[in-house]
Amino acid sequence: MAQTNAAARAAELRQLLNYHSHRYHVLDAPVISDAEYDTLFRELQELEEADPSLRAPDSPTQRVGGGIAAAFPRVTHPAPILSLSNAYAPEEVRAWLDRAIRIEPAAATTGFLVEPKIDGLTVVLTYREGVFALGATRGDGESGEDVTANLRTVRNLPLAIPVSQDGPKAPRRLVVRGEAYIPIADFEAMNERLRQADERTFLNPRNAAAGALRQLDSSLTASRPIRLLAYAIVQSEGLVPGTQADTLAYLRALGFSVADQVRRCAALEEAIGFAEDWARRRDELPFEADGMVIKVDDLELAARLGVVGKDPRGAIAYKFPAQTVSTTLLDIGVNVGRTGVITPYAILEPVMVGGVTVRQATLHNFDYIAEKDIRVGDRIVLKRAGEVIPYVIGPVLEARSGRPRRYQPPTTCPSCGEPLARGEGEVALYCQNAACPAQLVRHLEHFAGRGAMDIEGLGIRVAETLVAEGKVADVGDLYRLKTPDLLELEGFAERRAENLIQAIENSKAQSLARLINGLGIRGVGETVAADLARHFGDLARLASATIADIEAVAGLGPETARALTTWFGQARNQKVLEKLRRAGVWPVVRTTRTQGRRILDGLTFVITGTLPGMSRQDAKSLIEEHGGKVAGSVSRKTDYLVVGADPGSKAEKARGLGVRTISSTELEAMIEGG
Ligand code: IVH
Repeated sequence: MAQTNAAARAAELRQLLNYHSHRYHVLDAPVISDAEYDTLFRELQELEEADPSLRAPDSPTQRVGGGIAAAFPRVTHPAPILSLSNAYAPEEVRAWLDRAIRIEPAAATTGFLVEPKIDGLTVVLTYREGVFALGATRGDGESGEDVTANLRTVRNLPLAIPVSQDGPKAPRRLVVRGEAYIPIADFEAMNERLRQADERTFLNPRNAAAGALRQLDSSLTASRPIRLLAYAIVQSEGLVPGTQADTLAYLRALGFSVADQVRRCAALEEAIGFAEDWARRRDELPFEADGMVIKVDDLELAARLGVVGKDPRGAIAYKFPAQTVSTTLLDIGVNVGRTGVITPYAILEPVMVGGVTVRQATLHNFDYIAEKDIRVGDRIVLKRAGEVIPYVIGPVLEARSGRPRRYQPPTTCPSCGEPLARGEGEVALYCQNAACPAQLVRHLEHFAGRGAMDIEGLGIRVAETLVAEGKVADVGDLYRLKTPDLLELEGFAERRAENLIQAIENSKAQSLARLINGLGIRGVGETVAADLARHFGDLARLASATIADIEAVAGLGPETARALTTWFGQARNQKVLEKLRRAGVWPVVRTTRTQGRRILDGLTFVITGTLPGMSRQDAKSLIEEHGGKVAGSVSRKTDYLVVGADPGSKAEKARGLGVRTISSTELEAMIEGG
């Protein structure tokens, strides 16, 4: 009896949690607070722990991943996963329709459905009895790889359909086609975090999504912000909508996300106009798209049109103008990062892409240059997509003439001339000279940056001048600067000098988390710094911590622990700490409650998005420990909205109501700073 009760409750919780997750991740309209969601989630987790047989494939607890696969089995698709033919000009779209009309005259009058062509990865999702049972990559169109465990971690992919009880009844078997992708904003945020930690960044959202879907460890996939948009039914044992417009509506009703930027157009010219309108506004799309797909809306008619090769005649991709151009690679330069990592960049014959002149582009890392066989003097293809930093795709081999020079990575630092080293088991090259001027400049820039001490007026140019003129040899020296020191420098008049001195002075009040981040220790970015600050409370305790002490901080691996102990063990860093301490730059985390009144007394917070380095529950406890209240939804009574990555509708609502938004780092700063 207890058993069946537990099973029934688990089933109820699964349904409820999937419903609320859909409201949050798909509809962007949650109806319960995150805390309430967490409570239900934990109840289900406990039931499943007590009786693992209750762990169903559509349980939201399975979204975190964790299973490690040895390989991805191959699976045959129930029907060929077709491709699309392309058109680059309106005449080509008209010619496509003319061809279709010759085969099926009805194509002249049926109307069209126009939707974005998302530049992601095709996935094929099979639902059995309404439960997500199999997810595969496109592969060669006939068969793909079984990446079910990875796809389960995709937050807006329904684990069971219909998600809502008032949705249409799911057929016994349904196979849906969609595109897995990473939204541009999430991609940028993810790359920025990686850059901050001097780790390898991803080339573009598509590559990042592809890599994530093919992770053997699904918990890694879960940590990447992949989303899904569904757009076709491959096979169904139930009723099949007669038009593409109805297909999208049906998929939406079942609980899938479908693109918002779609329109049904009665005439082809309207469809062309709609597609061209989006071509002009492509930067407004939240995902990378390489065109708009114009589809014959009547699906039976589309099927009768048949296929040519792998391309259905019933649809065509009207491509956006290229964001790739070719130009000449004049030279390869290298940058020295703040931890000494050397990265190559392309120096280009200036070229216009998407209305902007590009002179430089990232080459990513030295392996990339070798893998793609990029040589100085080559004609290369360059891509600049919206906000994504321009990068070199590769050489145009057919255009290679003469004997372009094969590139040799440098052996000495371009800034200080010291020999470069290769990190153990790493591909990156490092300058290990702790006194390297280029590193110091980057370090000062980072120390003064937004995520660290936030010193306004201390950007890279000023940092370069300070280093070149010998005014600072480390970040500790910043606090010894006086106005007259700055007046000696080019570009500094009275007012500017005083402002900078004041900004440096103000930075003394920054939180411990920001200071730790500012120190620029390898592997220690905003998130890790916040964890360390919370755990150790002050710099002295962190400095004397052992590797074991540091590893005890949840989520920190041995590499980061070793980087930290090494950093604090070095004499020159100890000198920096001493300078900071003497200057009064010594924040501590105040965890004790000041008598009677606590810091956040009377303040109401709402939390949204994924916070770096703390769970919602952690953030909630932190706020409550200091006297604050945490509410589930934003209202006029909200004092602060704490925003993490991937925020939902709450952020918009807060903006509308004029509620202040803060990051988790700022929340910690409020608490630490009192
Ligand atoms: S329709 C019969 N619609 O573009 C169905 N494809 O070459 C043919 N793609 O990798 C595809 N967004 O996965 C269709 N809204 C959309 C799409 C779309 C992206 C991808 C597709 C394939 C490529 C087609």
